[in-house]
Amino acid sequence: RIPKGTPIYYTDVVGHFLTDADSPRISYEVKNVGYTFKNGTIGLRNININEEQGRLIGIMGASGAGKTTLLNVLSGIESPTEGEVVINGHNLHTQKEELEGVIGLIPQDDLLIEELTVFENLYYNAKLCFKDKSEEEITALVHDTLQNLGLFERKDLKVGSPLNKTISGGQRKRLNIALELIREPAILFVDEPTSGLSSRDSENVMNLLRELALKGKLIFVVIHQPSSDIYKMFDKMFILDTGGYPVYYGNPGESLIYFKQLDSQINSDQGECPTCGNLNPELIFNIIDASVIDEYGNYTNKRKVSPEEWYSHFCERIAIPTVNTVKTKPPKTLNIPSWFNQFKIYTLRDFFAKISNTQYILLNLLETPLLGFILAYLIKYIADPNSDLYIFRENENMPPYVFMGIVVSLFFGLIISAEEIFKDAKILKRESFLKLSRSSYLVSKVLLMFTISAIQMALFVLVANTVLGIKDMYFEYWIALFTVSAFANILGLILSASFNSIVTIYILIPLVMIPQMVLGGAMFTFDKLNKDFTSVDKVPAIAEFMPSRWIYEGLIVDMYKNNKYNSAFFEIEQKESSADFKQVHYLPELREILVKCYDHVAAGKNRDDKTFKDDLELIRNEFSKEIRRVPEINFENLDLLYPDTFDENALLIADDYISKLNDHYRLIFIQSNRLKDTFFTYNQTQNAETFNRIKDNYYNESISSIVRREFGKNKMVRQGNELVQLSEPIYQIPEPEKWYSFRTHFFAPVKHFAGNFYETLWFNITVVWLLTIVLYAVLYFDLLTKLMNWGSSIKWNKRKPLKE
Ligand SMILES: Nc1ncnc2c1ncn2[C@@H]1O[C@H](COP(=O)(O)OP(=O)(O)O)[C@@H](O)[C@H]1O
Ligand SMILES: [Mg+2]
Repeated sequence: RIPKGTPIYYTDVVGHFLTDADSPRISYEVKNVGYTFKNGTIGLRNININEEQGRLIGIMGASGAGKTTLLNVLSGIESPTEGEVVINGHNLHTQKEELEGVIGLIPQDDLLIEELTVFENLYYNAKLCFKDKSEEEITALVHDTLQNLGLFERKDLKVGSPLNKTISGGQRKRLNIALELIREPAILFVDEPTSGLSSRDSENVMNLLRELALKGKLIFVVIHQPSSDIYKMFDKMFILDTGGYPVYYGNPGESLIYFKQLDSQINSDQGECPTCGNLNPELIFNIIDASVIDEYGNYTNKRKVSPEEWYSHFCERIAIPTVNTVKTKPPKTLNIPSWFNQFKIYTLRDFFAKISNTQYILLNLLETPLLGFILAYLIKYIADPNSDLYIFRENENMPPYVFMGIVVSLFFGLIISAEEIFKDAKILKRESFLKLSRSSYLVSKVLLMFTISAIQMALFVLVANTVLGIKDMYFEYWIALFTVSAFANILGLILSASFNSIVTIYILIPLVMIPQMVLGGAMFTFDKLNKDFTSVDKVPAIAEFMPSRWIYEGLIVDMYKNNKYNSAFFEIEQKESSADFKQVHYLPELREILVKCYDHVAAGKNRDDKTFKDDLELIRNEFSKEIRRVPEINFENLDLLYPDTFDENALLIADDYISKLNDHYRLIFIQSNRLKDTFFTYNQTQNAETFNRIKDNYYNESISSIVRREFGKNKMVRQGNELVQLSEPIYQIPEPEKWYSFRTHFFAPVKHFAGNFYETLWFNITVVWLLTIVLYAVLYFDLLTKLMNWGSSIKWNKRKPLKE
């Protein structure tokens, strides 16, 4: 240093010799950039920076000054509210395509996958960046990079979590840097690379960045409490003060003098300690945010020089350097693979991360069969107290078992996926910065979760159904429970993607589980819910969104209808049951209402009476239905059944119609009843033993009592001006109102859509998959996060700030 002259620094000299002559030229210009947060807080004000390749720029500032915000804007993650960032003549925020791959950002947080080794972390990252490189080239590149960063000896160590260390903090940091370095971006942003590191590690990391800059990169580093040696490595220092005010931009060595002079302290022209050549950067901050001392000698909260004042000095005294805008295109190094290849890489990466965690694998594979065994063993109930022989038919726990199976699959589905995206959040952010496909990530994640769930449910069903003696239904149970799990997987992924702490995610699990349980149709019957939700003839609308309800209905119906015993005569019994209902409940009720109407007229009462009109409407409604159901019996006198036309003649005609219907149904009843009798007599006499064995092993009494609603008080109710059958729902074939109607009563034997009827179980499984697809869309478009952001952007009764 020449006394009283401009000092010359090491890097100025070395830089001239080391910078590769052929390294690509870059001009980086930040013009009047300002940034305001969504809530209105100003984050950055009037930032101007002009730099070119080969420089190492430091960014300093008190904590909360806006350094990370600045880095985000400079690297293109956030768009500035004012001004622009121009690289080689291209606007970073509006012409993103031209600048793809030019910028690298190394955030403060770790981007490592803890379950993978040092080598694997870098390897998968490289695969995602270079589609054209062969396997050997990638491996060689990874080895080279590891060699350069001094990590080669550690390449086969698992990264591990920061608490459960296998590699040191400095090595972690270098590996994080390696992730970006491997693709050699021309401009690199690094957020606090040395915080938390020992001084030795810090120096290693900084030397690495220094060398990279010397090789022709432009590097911005946010640096916190640097040592004197590190501080002097920078070519330029950019200092921010609280509120995003720029207060210094220039040579680091001269910064202290600048602030001292302004602070008009003694020795102001000595930047470094005159004896040792050390410069203590901390002194800068002591000056910048020095506090006023009050009359008693105590420090106050008020600053001697406010950020605004430092900023106005900055505007007066600091000259912003200029660069020549480079006209050539910035170098592009990124070459990302196709959607499908990304998907493959993601899947492999996740797969190897998972299987490297033996505990995770064992727990996930053993837990469900263990639970299945415990559950099934506990409820393997023998009704006869004097017997040790288990009879499936008599096990009253079958319906609760089906429901528990659903709860188990919901739970496991949620649990395995609830952490997944959350854990990857930082890595995902970086990968979206690289323009990698979110959908290939999601699809790979979803398929991996589905695979785990499918295995879990297969093991559960295999064990539990075997213990409980549920025969022939392994596949149906598996596919049904897997369907629930898959739904829960996606639900878990949504929670995982939308909330920012693992505790929140787990706290929310009961909130999504309990409605599933309450509205599943097993714990509380649908006709005994709060009046606001029940509907008599259909499953309540909110329950239609619950996979638990669809799968419960599907499995119970299938267990009753398609088991080896009942399936033999289900159709006969169905005919018998509906004919019986018509004869015993439905037609007598119609007749009664009809007579009541006639009494009304005969007594000469008011024909405008509401009940009278309603009753006639009910009869017209039900007659129209019967005309459709039984086309062979004619009835063309609906017009007689209006309040002003109804008379004795109408009564006789209508009564006659009811009688004909009654005959029709009686015939059906007698025929089907006789058929059933024959069937039973034959089986009971010819092969009684087999027949009873089949009944014991396949038919279950408690399932039967549920689907036939044996304990229901009312067989039929009036809803509005229609009659609704409540008894024996399993034998009640739903009647679609419109072509798209798909909702039915609970435990319907078949379902309909667009003119066709389908088996309940398969139809219901399809419905749950459709719900799952809808959830996937929510996940893909991140709708829950958007909804929550929208919710929080509404200013609820904003409090006024307290006056000082
Ligand atoms: N999304 C946001 N909305 C409002 N204010 C924010 C937001 N993010 C950060 N801030 C505020 O902006 C200031 C700068 O934050 P940051 O850039 O992270 O500081 P640092 O210099 O410590 O990296 C802080 O005071 C912080 O509270
Ligand atoms: Mg920060």
